[in-house]
Amino acid sequence: MKSDSDWRISADNSLLRRGTVAWMHDAETWFERSFERLPETIRVNPLRKDSDSVEAWLRSVGAEPMSWYRGPGSSWVMPFERGGAEGEVRKLLISLHETGRLTRQEAVSMIPVMALNPKAGEAVLDMCASPGSKTSQIAEFMGGMGVLIANERSRKRCNLLVANIQRHRSRVTIVSNHDGRHIPYLSGEEGYDAILVDAPCTGSGTTRKNPEVWRQWKPSGGLGLHSMQFGLLNRAVDLLKPGGRVVYSTCSLDPVENEAVISQILQKREDVRLIGCSDNIDGVSIQEGLQSWVPTDDDMRPLEGSPWAHPPSEEISGELSKCIRVRGHMMDAGGFFLATIEKKHVQTEGVLEDISEVRFPEDSVQASQPLCEIDRLAFEKEFGGCDKPLWRRGKRIAIGTERMLDVWSKRTIVSNGKAIVEGHRWRPMNIVHVGCEISEMRSGRPSRIIEDGAHLAREIALDRIVKIGDSDFEKLLFGEALETDCMPPDKTDIRGGWLVSSESNPEPLPVWIGGKITAMVSKHEQTCRVGLRGLEKV
Ligand SMILES: C[S@@+](CC[C@H](N)C(=O)[O-])C[C@H]1O[C@@H](n2cnc3c(N)ncnc32)[C@H](O)[C@@H]1O
Repeated sequence: MKSDSDWRISADNSLLRRGTVAWMHDAETWFERSFERLPETIRVNPLRKDSDSVEAWLRSVGAEPMSWYRGPGSSWVMPFERGGAEGEVRKLLISLHETGRLTRQEAVSMIPVMALNPKAGEAVLDMCASPGSKTSQIAEFMGGMGVLIANERSRKRCNLLVANIQRHRSRVTIVSNHDGRHIPYLSGEEGYDAILVDAPCTGSGTTRKNPEVWRQWKPSGGLGLHSMQFGLLNRAVDLLKPGGRVVYSTCSLDPVENEAVISQILQKREDVRLIGCSDNIDGVSIQEGLQSWVPTDDDMRPLEGSPWAHPPSEEISGELSKCIRVRGHMMDAGGFFLATIEKKHVQTEGVLEDISEVRFPEDSVQASQPLCEIDRLAFEKEFGGCDKPLWRRGKRIAIGTERMLDVWSKRTIVSNGKAIVEGHRWRPMNIVHVGCEISEMRSGRPSRIIEDGAHLAREIALDRIVKIGDSDFEKLLFGEALETDCMPPDKTDIRGGWLVSSESNPEPLPVWIGGKITAMVSKHEQTCRVGLRGLEKV
């Protein structure tokens, strides 16, 4: 492993250091602050009922709220370096993360979602989503209403994305697996309200997290990614509804990956305008977008003839000042770029006339489908009335949103408006995950509410929650098995998967009732429940 002084030598002579002199007015300050390890930063999930207790715990261990964070929930700087937690703090921090009560995320990486400002009920696309820290943040902004499609091109990274979404346990998210440049239109005729394009990039703003960048970064890296970045942003604009917005972001400092992409979209499309978004990120240290730049080859010789050199007109050059370069070095963080684009309302003619229907294959058995009537009746019989949209994939049952059902049932325009695929299927979308898993089928009926769905139990399984005494609840938390006579008199003969709560522990806990009663939760859930006991809002 390299020492800090080895990195410093690579950095002193790096191409990146030479490049940044042209991109920021305080490049020397940036350079001096580019070595220290980043602090651990996290976001608290406001969709979980015990988020007040999580915040109280964070205060008690010396964490400080980040004053510039806007949105539901809160974000915090821990009093140690990234990955530097120890002992009991480390143990609880990991369990809080694993159960979705908080998400570890670099501070600057929280800013693009603040700029996008997704709202409850909207249709939102996260075009390049894995590993999903911004996806979970968008879901928090949406508060359980609307639909969020989290897309990722790499199948392997899709699995990581799904795992993180399952950890977060929010219900608005669907995961799709497409090259973002070719994602199908959203079903229905409107398009997305908001899209995040957090594009693949050279990562030149991430030296504090990934010092390899000092050695690896070359100007040709950005030149090689530019067309893909433009292609992703261009498709995002296609998919927006008129009046919708897209935030384009990278963790790169290189204008070829940033302002040059925005300049090109302004030049090539008449239906977009660049808008400022500084109101949404008040308090973040920023530099205006560059209005000119000179791409270079890997020997740092200017590439004057390059198609990505200079904005094409003074008008576009002036507009680029609305782009935002986050000055992470003034906020104890890394660097980031973002720009917000709005799709204008343009007059279109009747595009849906004379279109043909395209036969598309049915969804694969892997894609979740709405719960059929028989399964829904079985669910209601087991758990009580539930009017929420439920989905089934194999044995698994998940809860989603009304808007999701809308997307599934409507037809989709394909072939640039020349054809349609009928609704009541996900196709042409390739969907690999839907909503939040809450239960599973056993012997033809839903067996119990699993840990991932327990926080929603009051909405989906009211008839399955039993109140027990505080001291019995505590024993379950510490892993003891209880006798069934601790149940209320009318419930002593119940068996199978249930949920229990108590006066001081209103959040239902899944249990299995056989000869004895035992908690059916993971070690991480148990650690959180025990660690957060008695912590309340200060
Ligand atoms: C900067 S990372 C995204 C980080 C993510 N937004 C987050 O905050 O956790 C870019 C992602 O885009 C994916 N990607 C690369 N090319 C893509 C494409 N053409 N379409 C969709 N995703 C792509 C990469 O695999 C990578 O996971």
